[in-house]
Amino acid sequence: MSVRLSVADYERLAEERLEPGQWAYLAGGSGDEWTLRENSAAFARWTFRPRVLCDVSEISTATTVLGTPIELPVVVAPVAYQQLYHPDGECATARGAAAAGTGMAVSTFSTRSHEEIAAAAPGLAQWCKLYVFQDRGVTREHLAGAAAAGCRAVVLTVDTPRLAQRERDLRVGFEIPSDLPLPYARATIGDAPQNPADQFALLDPSVSWRDLEWIASEGGLPVVLKGVLTAEDAEMAVEHGAAAVVVSNHGGRQLDGVSATLDVLPEVADAVGGRAEVYLDGGIRRGTDVAKALALGARAVLAGRAPAFGLAVAGEEGVRHVLELLHDELTLALCLLGCTSPDELTRAHVQRATT
Ligand code: GLV
Repeated sequence: MSVRLSVADYERLAEERLEPGQWAYLAGGSGDEWTLRENSAAFARWTFRPRVLCDVSEISTATTVLGTPIELPVVVAPVAYQQLYHPDGECATARGAAAAGTGMAVSTFSTRSHEEIAAAAPGLAQWCKLYVFQDRGVTREHLAGAAAAGCRAVVLTVDTPRLAQRERDLRVGFEIPSDLPLPYARATIGDAPQNPADQFALLDPSVSWRDLEWIASEGGLPVVLKGVLTAEDAEMAVEHGAAAVVVSNHGGRQLDGVSATLDVLPEVADAVGGRAEVYLDGGIRRGTDVAKALALGARAVLAGRAPAFGLAVAGEEGVRHVLELLHDELTLALCLLGCTSPDELTRAHVQRATT
């Protein structure tokens, strides 16, 4: 078996195992993929300022998100169509997340229902990632199903009024197989194989701040707003009752040319000012990336591609191992920074690199 010491090892193996279309869809970004590259590059623009002689004999990476205890500040991000990567799809991811002691957000384009996932991983903290369809009846049913299955939050993704141009997918002619189960979308999509842009064209681009209240009351769940990149929208999110915001550019898959999420995190965290929780996603490959995000104001990060690489390579076991690698790397980073828990990380632990 090839050595798997890092997320990068899983990334390489996943590329070897997946079909070109599956890999393009999972790994690719939009346009020139500038933002995709920036998300990763930004982590190298911040360096650590470690403190010494801090008694780091006991270290815990545990924290809470929206009051739910988790063993590490890494929640599995929503990733669509997971049966493309493993026959058990989201159920395998859920079991891997539960084994690692963390939670998972489930895509609207999930290939398993919230009930199936809850049955596969009892006790898992599950969040419902919501896209609002033009047919609001479909969205109402989705929210009702999520609440009934015990989801603890709705993650409303707000950066996708239409899908961006993903040239990698188009070059290889990637299409979603018509027999892929899509419990929250198939009824409105029908059976024809389609590319993701066709499926996303059924989402409602008229969604606005006014809909937040409707979504919160319909699901009876706290709302996490995913896709906030400015202080202005962070302020609006808090005003409209969001329980948390995710500083996210959709993994470099939507508006190419927006900043790396790590670079806008301080602006958003300052604007929120502790009135809601702040999370970050985009480019997480190392425990040190998690530490930098936490130092710059995130309570936790969401990781999408990293666990998906694990899923593609080794199913549940791969997801668990990827999360364990991030856990172990974060533990080491905390220790060497002079911190015994995520809460002790502050902006004083990082600085902009000078070169
Ligand atoms: C789904 O949300 C995607 O980015 O393709």
